[in-house]
Amino acid sequence: MDVPVLESEGYATPVASAPAPSTADPLWWRSAVIYQLYIRSFADGNGDGTGDIAGVRAHLDYLKELGVDALWFTPWYASPLADGGYDVSDYRQIHPAFGEIEEAEALIREALALGIRTIIDVVPNHVSNEHEWFKAALAAGPGSPERERFWFVDGDAIPNHWVSNFQGTTWTQVPDGQWYLHLFTPEQPDLNWNHPDVRREHEDVLRFWFDRGVAGVRIDSAALLVKDPELPEVPDGVVAGQHPNTDRDEVHDIYRSWRAVANSYPGTRVLVGEVWMPDPVRFTNYLRPDEMHTAFNFDFMARPWQGSELRESIDSMLAAHAPVHAPSTWVLSNHDVTRTVTRYGRDDSSFAFATKRFGTPTDIALGTRRARAAALLSAALPGSLYLYQGDELGLPEVEDLPEGTRQDPMHFRSDGVDPGRDGCRVPLPWSGTQPPFGFSGGDSQPWLPQPDDWALYTVESEAADPRSMLSLYRAALAIRRGLEGDESFSWLSTDADVLYFARGGGFVSITNLSDRPIDLPEHEEFLLGSTELVDGQLAPDSTAWLRPINHER
Ligand code: NOJ
Repeated sequence: MDVPVLESEGYATPVASAPAPSTADPLWWRSAVIYQLYIRSFADGNGDGTGDIAGVRAHLDYLKELGVDALWFTPWYASPLADGGYDVSDYRQIHPAFGEIEEAEALIREALALGIRTIIDVVPNHVSNEHEWFKAALAAGPGSPERERFWFVDGDAIPNHWVSNFQGTTWTQVPDGQWYLHLFTPEQPDLNWNHPDVRREHEDVLRFWFDRGVAGVRIDSAALLVKDPELPEVPDGVVAGQHPNTDRDEVHDIYRSWRAVANSYPGTRVLVGEVWMPDPVRFTNYLRPDEMHTAFNFDFMARPWQGSELRESIDSMLAAHAPVHAPSTWVLSNHDVTRTVTRYGRDDSSFAFATKRFGTPTDIALGTRRARAAALLSAALPGSLYLYQGDELGLPEVEDLPEGTRQDPMHFRSDGVDPGRDGCRVPLPWSGTQPPFGFSGGDSQPWLPQPDDWALYTVESEAADPRSMLSLYRAALAIRRGLEGDESFSWLSTDADVLYFARGGGFVSITNLSDRPIDLPEHEEFLLGSTELVDGQLAPDSTAWLRPINHER
């Protein structure tokens, strides 16, 4: 394995950038580093306070230097933004605040020229209530073919008591008396996947974007598409595969068709599922060879910072993936969950939507230390790695957004009890000492206000600091390139608090989750550390990457 050599023991020091990845490799997705780009908050190219495609194009060099292989764009389509763009009104148009379709095409080309692929988000479970189909359904009235593309039901009373993923009811009554289904907000009516138009349209949307050069799609709420047409209540002790609206066995047929569409294109166009599924086998059923390529491993993300928990998650996920020959993914956060440095700084460092509350005590220094260790731990595991924008800077969750600035329906539908997801979506700080920190060139303030103390977290200041989170990620991703193509993994210790494992012959990773320093195993070379060694020992909440002695060359 050929890795860049670092000069000192501990912390990240700058490394020469690794060679560009090959965009011809059909297996690129098995070990890719994918940067989740929340376009509204990445960089604002036209000065209106909202991130856009122009802003991304102006910062492709940053992404190249960071060392990512692909970008996953959260929805950038025409949308009223009732749920941050997960309410699509037209898949073939870019939201005017983000740019135009020609800019998206140029971006896809320019990124690819730098060796960076583009993955887009598709949201098949629902559309916006401003989508042409839904407007036509409302206009056409009960019993019309237009209404059959959705779940419209007659009745004086609510059709059932399913609970929305955003709390509250899943049914809204329209003036003519019918009810329509929405597993999320009323602005996101659910599509009827038994209808051939719905299936045909989504396959066309895939082709539309594959024709424009995208390398894959991230599939939103992928387990929810198929409903029991009887729309029954959710029974107690529901049998796997027969829940009325989640993970029904028939949903897999949809992804088999999508895989056939993806396979009809040159290169590997990947299907990446957003599948929240507690049972690892039900989860990896989505990754059978004729379905999706990969899906987000939320099990690992949601675990607390404890050795036994993380070890158990790694073991169970690798074991569940093996029979379907799919690589696991490793994800520390995304645009829906509490920022990593904040979550790991709490007494309860697990993640669950139901337990998010204002005012949870947080030790950011501890959380940052653990997030650094977790960054190296997750980057060392076999499979693909997802990095949510801003995590490479160690941004904390913004918990004190000013009154009136929050936008997330999760917050409002909980009557303000759930802080919602705005706190992890605040625009990135690029440079300077005060808002907008280079996010926006114009006079407009960012669409969500940035904290005044984010001068500490700008790309500019972190790039100049070898001890910053950004320097750590840059060094880690450069070294990680040397592991590409090798999917081997073996534990070297059974100690519950020390996650020590080998990848290939020439690389080991060791994470100390105990409360005392530990000796490092004998090694030929110290490659990278998330903290500085203390008297040659690895401190608590730290990871080190080593080249072992007698390794294969
Ligand atoms: C999952 C997305 O990640 C989230 O942001 C969105 O609100 C829901 N799906 C509904 O589309």
